[in-house]
Amino acid sequence: MVALVTGSAGLIGAEAVRLFAAKGMDVIGVDNDMRAYSFGPDASTSWSRGQLEKQVRSYHHEHIDIRDLEGLKSIFQRYGQSIKSVLQLSLLMIGRLGTH
Ligand SMILES: NC(=O)c1ccc[n+]([C@@H]2O[C@H](COP(=O)([O-])OP(=O)(O)OC[C@H]3O[C@@H](n4cnc5c(N)ncnc54)[C@H](O)[C@@H]3O)[C@@H](O)[C@H]2O)c1
Repeated sequence: MVALVTGSAGLIGAEAVRLFAAKGMDVIGVDNDMRAYSFGPDASTSWSRGQLEKQVRSYHHEHIDIRDLEGLKSIFQRYGQSIKSVLQLSLLMIGRLGTH
């Protein structure tokens, strides 16, 4: 069984990944570190992605934007019916705040 978590490197997403993994599920995390793009390097969640990849054996990261329909389609093509749960936690941030 597979769980798909978007915003997986974020505060809530990373906890959700650990919860699903503890229940024995494989977890696909979708996160493109949009926080760094929007707020600068200090806001990056790449450290959290690194922790998940190191600590959660059943975690697989996909660095794609949730608006990338082809990217999402490819995940569903690969995992298809095994995806039993989708948790959407990526807070959509568009553009660089303060520069537009
Ligand atoms: N943290 C809270 O206390 C809280 C409370 C209530 C609701 N929420 C909601 O829960 C959701 C998650 O909150 P959080 O605190 O974990 O946020 P967060 O900012 O810590 O994490 C969001 C993650 O989504 C990723 N992301 C953003 N846009 C993306 C995109 N276009 N494609 C792929 N990834 C993208 C970011 O890189 C980041 O890692 C948000 O919608 C938030 O509004 C949070």
